[in-house]
Amino acid sequence: MVTIAPSLLSSDFSDLRGQIALAEQGGADWIHLDVMDGHFVPNMTIGPPVIRSLRKLTRLPFDTHLMIDNPDQFLEDFRSAGADIITVHIEACTHLHRTIHRIKELGARAGVSLNPATPVHLLTDIIADVDLVLIMSVNPGFGAQTFIPRSLEKIREAARMIRETGADIRLEVDGGVDAHTTGRIVAAGADVLVAGNYIFTSTDIPAAVRSLRALAGQSVAATP
Ligand code: DX5
Ligand code: ZN
Repeated sequence: MVTIAPSLLSSDFSDLRGQIALAEQGGADWIHLDVMDGHFVPNMTIGPPVIRSLRKLTRLPFDTHLMIDNPDQFLEDFRSAGADIITVHIEACTHLHRTIHRIKELGARAGVSLNPATPVHLLTDIIADVDLVLIMSVNPGFGAQTFIPRSLEKIREAARMIRETGADIRLEVDGGVDAHTTGRIVAAGADVLVAGNYIFTSTDIPAAVRSLRALAGQSVAATP
């Protein structure tokens, strides 16, 4: 079963209540929250106070993608604001093992994300400790970018590594997920799809969520 995680980055920020409700109406599984600090990525978005406010609007898990330097400094704040999954970037963590275990101590699920130019084999010594691997299929910072084709091989490689651990680790893909790319992404082994632009610029947001799920389902069925 593929998890659909709409990213609010491309939503109407003046009506987050309505946008979350529409995503939920379409059957979204998680809400993906993109946190950007203007240092790790060349853009800024939201932080713990906004997440705390959003927490009152939905019971869906908050999939919190931290595109920030020094995430350790803010883990408690994000957790207490209501983040259920906290994903940090491998490129932003000097002591990744410590960071992952701190996230778990706080009672959240811990994810690790790789930028497009970061090789999957860097996960070797941490993969058994994480709950989720996030493969970035665009350079993080902005919505509506084009899916980088090389990501498919990275997804396959990460899926292999996950299978070898035998553990229940989710494989998430973020960036350029749409009706054209979903089939290939799921066939490569992803089981969590983040989509911002495709869902929130649609004239029918619930239908966009449903269509991604249908496409993902067909692809799973087509995979031997
Ligand atoms: C990009 C963010 C993504 C973004 C994806 O840095 O991490 O979550 O919202 O946007 P789309 O789906 O528009 O590529
Ligand atoms: Zn994201």
